[in-house]
Amino acid sequence: MLLNLKQILAPAKQRGFAVGAFNVTESTMFRAVVEQAEELKAPVIIQVSPNEFEFCDREQYLYFVERLQHSPNPFVLHYDHGKTYEGCVRAVQAGFTSVMFDGSHLSYEENVRAVRRVTEMAHAASVSVEGEIGSIGETDNFEAGTVKDMIYSTPEDARQFWEDTGVDALAVSIGTVHGLMPRGYVPVLQLQRLREIAAAVDVPLVLHGGSCTPAQEVAEACRSGISKVNVSSEFKNAYYQSIKDFVLADPIKVSPTLVAKDAVQQVRRVVCEKLNLFGAVGMAGDYRAPARERPTGEALPAVD
Ligand code: 13P
Repeated sequence: MLLNLKQILAPAKQRGFAVGAFNVTESTMFRAVVEQAEELKAPVIIQVSPNEFEFCDREQYLYFVERLQHSPNPFVLHYDHGKTYEGCVRAVQAGFTSVMFDGSHLSYEENVRAVRRVTEMAHAASVSVEGEIGSIGETDNFEAGTVKDMIYSTPEDARQFWEDTGVDALAVSIGTVHGLMPRGYVPVLQLQRLREIAAAVDVPLVLHGGSCTPAQEVAEACRSGISKVNVSSEFKNAYYQSIKDFVLADPIKVSPTLVAKDAVQQVRRVVCEKLNLFGAVGMAGDYRAPARERPTGEALPAVD
């Protein structure tokens, strides 16, 4: 069953769990995440960032849409960290049921203007929109680097942004960082800040940078207002480490069915761990398929 973000996050917000959102690029990882979610009967968001979107061709997303639509398990296909209006239109045209416009690098006014434009276009196709207020930190080098560009969200800004844009989900910055952590760096979540933001808005909140963050703090965040947690680097790292170990140990065996066999299990292990942590296991029963076919993005304006 293919839903939008609003539909998949409503039961999560109501019942106090979070839906896992996993960034996949290609079909092996896609299958590993989807099959693990189905086995655990957990709602899951499959998301694709702009670079990943450009890396694959349109036919791949026809397959993603078809596979998710025919599953009894609830899924969303979400375009993550869109940086342009045109990118968001292309995702809607490719069958995505949700898009994020990340205007965190813009001024408040520019961010609002851009998100409103995307929201108008996306809502006309029953596609949901995620925005971001504040700025989630980035690592510049995971071995010896530092964390940069973190601007914490405030309850006042979150409320104003939500009212000004009408977004369906709001990413907030409370101390997580995108990517693998620099050596010795442990993210500390500002849970009191999160509770104050959650009290100020009536929209599901999103935690980016779900990799390598202390498990108990993430679990507490899911009970304190976070309804969606994004995870990417941690399971990709597990996948590629496994492939590297296999190839170094046995460079002659080049069959993908052998090389990727354990790597797929590593992805499933991380996904299973996270879904348990977020309280999402077994929650698929809370969802019903939408009553009517959603409109497609085919009538949208042409973009380059
Ligand atoms: P991580 O790579 O830190 O898990 O972050 C993923 C993310 O937030 C994608 O939007």
